[in-house]
Amino acid sequence: SSYDAGEHDSFMHKEMVEQPAAAERVLRGRLDERFGTAHLGGLGMDARETRAIRRVKILGCGSAYYVGQMGAALVEELARIPADAEAASEFRYRDPIIEPDTLYVAVSQSGETLDTLLAVQEVRRKGGRVIGLVNVVGSAIARECDGGIYLHAGPEVAVASTKALTNMFLGFALLALQLGRVRDLSIADGKRLIAGLQRIPEQLEAVLAREDEIAGVAARLAEAESLFFIGRVRGFPVAREGAQKFKEISYRHAEAYQTSELKHGPLALISEAVPTVAVVPYDELTDRNVGALHEIAARRGPLVVVTHADVDLGDVDAVRIDVPRNERELDPILLTLPLQLLAYHAALLLGHDIDKPRNLAKSVTVE
Ligand code: G6P
Repeated sequence: SSYDAGEHDSFMHKEMVEQPAAAERVLRGRLDERFGTAHLGGLGMDARETRAIRRVKILGCGSAYYVGQMGAALVEELARIPADAEAASEFRYRDPIIEPDTLYVAVSQSGETLDTLLAVQEVRRKGGRVIGLVNVVGSAIARECDGGIYLHAGPEVAVASTKALTNMFLGFALLALQLGRVRDLSIADGKRLIAGLQRIPEQLEAVLAREDEIAGVAARLAEAESLFFIGRVRGFPVAREGAQKFKEISYRHAEAYQTSELKHGPLALISEAVPTVAVVPYDELTDRNVGALHEIAARRGPLVVVTHADVDLGDVDAVRIDVPRNERELDPILLTLPLQLLAYHAALLLGHDIDKPRNLAKSVTVE
């Protein structure tokens, strides 16, 4: 085929590096600078129907589920509509209540994940409206949905999803913007977020430019048998995705935890042998997050902090990875990229097959 890894050692590397260009494609033609909103023609809903939505339920598996949690936060923040994400693999087994004024959103790179497809069918069987955030055009999930947002990430081959995931996040930002602008999101806030979205490709590029530095940090983490990834509120799905990537390709035990819950259990496991990767954006929770870092440092837990230059870590002994700041609602995706690079470089050092980790498939089409 014409799609190969080229000068890259793996598809995962190629696909990580393609993210700025992929991000431009998902945004192209969909931003309305004048009215501070998004145009998503594929949703097939007019303003009145969009306005009638009272709840958003996001369904996906693996990384698509974690980015769904980021998406739920975007919908709640921008549109002030209650939203949550659930593992599509669990959804249909608990006899879910399907409501006519809920918008169901299926998220999938391949569009072929059976658990997600069956969740969509369960919603439709009960008369619910489902849209898809799907990368592969014409895939099973895309065909089964009432409408959707194609992700335009281009082909993704590595099992560990990178550029598709970034575009899922941006797809959610567009959806949240459109939902918000038929409600109480002001035109000024809409414009602020559009300007933020337009900065994302160059900011992703700026993170990629620091790959060598991040590779150096990965070398320290690769030696650990077990790690924590922590974050809270907006940062927690970022930590979940970071832990998922790390365990998928480095085969190290990586556990995601809410920073706020550390003291309610896992702090017992912190020691010199157990590093923590902490997601600490510059936001209303920075001080509390830094407080938790002190707790970890006091137990001699090695710390890597993915953060912003404006964050003052005080005297905490930590290796920091600073990423460019955007609007705080949009920061999660920029905080995610260094975690992809950490997982990739750890796996590379450990000599693993980056693109085809053991026991995993790119797309799981069985139950
Ligand atoms: C598999 C892959 C994951 C992926 C998930 C969902 O489990 O190993 O990397 O996130 O499927 O795939 P989808 O194609 O539905 O996004």
